[in-house]
Amino acid sequence: MESQGSCSVFDHVVRAPEDPILGVTVAYNKDQSPIKLNLGVGAYRTEEGKPLVLNVVRQAEQTLVNDKSRVKEYLPIVGLAEFNKQSAKLIFGSDSPAIQENRVTTVQCLSGTGSLRVGGEFLAWHYLERTIYIPVPTWGNHPKVFTLAGLSVKTYRYYDPATRGLDFQGMLEDLNSAPAGAIVLLHACAHNPTGVDPTLEQWEQIRQLIRLKGLLPFFDSAYQGFASGSLDSDAQSVRIFVADGGECLVAQSYAKNMGLYGERVGALSIVCKNADVAGRVESQLKLVIRPMYSNPPIHGASIVAMILRDRDMYNEWTIELKGMADRIISMRHQLFEALLARGTPGDWSHIIKQIGMFTFTGLNSEQVAFMTREYHIYMTSDGRISMAGLSSTTVPHLADAIHAAVTRVA
Ligand SMILES: Cc1ncc(COP(=O)(O)O)c(C=O)c1O
Repeated sequence: MESQGSCSVFDHVVRAPEDPILGVTVAYNKDQSPIKLNLGVGAYRTEEGKPLVLNVVRQAEQTLVNDKSRVKEYLPIVGLAEFNKQSAKLIFGSDSPAIQENRVTTVQCLSGTGSLRVGGEFLAWHYLERTIYIPVPTWGNHPKVFTLAGLSVKTYRYYDPATRGLDFQGMLEDLNSAPAGAIVLLHACAHNPTGVDPTLEQWEQIRQLIRLKGLLPFFDSAYQGFASGSLDSDAQSVRIFVADGGECLVAQSYAKNMGLYGERVGALSIVCKNADVAGRVESQLKLVIRPMYSNPPIHGASIVAMILRDRDMYNEWTIELKGMADRIISMRHQLFEALLARGTPGDWSHIIKQIGMFTFTGLNSEQVAFMTREYHIYMTSDGRISMAGLSSTTVPHLADAIHAAVTRVA
């Protein structure tokens, strides 16, 4: 008999590093300090620092549980039909001509990440120019998702550290020199990690350039409603691209705007030139999905479909969503005021100018390490803090830490 000895067929496997974002929470969980603060993870917290399940989500779940006619059969490969229909309306607008002309195909995927991955693989299989341009910086998972999907990843300038704002000229130059047909990943709103979005006028110029060059836009919409509190305003970037009749892809996530993080609910839409192409594209999307995870989960999508379809529930959702967005905006103001009150050196106005869940503070990795060591505050090493993880009680602690980091660490 083989001994239970030391030899494993996996002996050569080396330990992988923690994920740079999720690893922050691992480190936070190990910290015993009562004043510890996790600003690393992109998940909403209440003023009391607790995760939030929206009332409207609880209500939808209760209705689903009480409905004894509901079964747990497999969904189709493309997911729940009503969910797909409602998701397209949410991002493109209920009166979208592209939807009316049946030239949009929408498939339910595993939240935003899964939608990006399915879209990426579809493009790697069926699109001639297999290069995707992503902004610098971007959400850390983007390069990995698209590389593993089979695309070659290149970058375009986006953020200017000097102004802590958009490097609009750099962005236009880089897109202008991309090869015709290249795919361009765009954050629909609330750019992660910088919180810097183009203005509507800038979006219009970006659109003109992308269409002129025949580039293919791929929107990542992970924060619709979170940026401004308005679902329609946060979808404007996508809608101006769809209005010109051109093609594009959109990955939607319900993690943040419905607080359904762990339910993994999202959708991939591909807007095509006509209904015939859309039908053929959908048939190929099924071939991407089937060997990947067969078909998506039913529970989260049923919650979303119910909320989006029922007018009262939808209205209640928009109120709760605005409540989350407003709390984040108020945290921005409180932190800004607290730094002003401390006379912290530097211009901190970017804290109130940036949009969405994150502030890209401009703190360097040494300053971040100092704040973790001395103040038990956790964030990604690029200085990104989640405003959603802050509360009125923790703002002073954070402001003290930033003040100390800026004045004591170069
Ligand atoms: C820009 C961006 N895209 C996509 C995602 C994907 O999130 P999920 O897969 O949880 O929907 C996130 C989450 O943090 C994000 O910030």
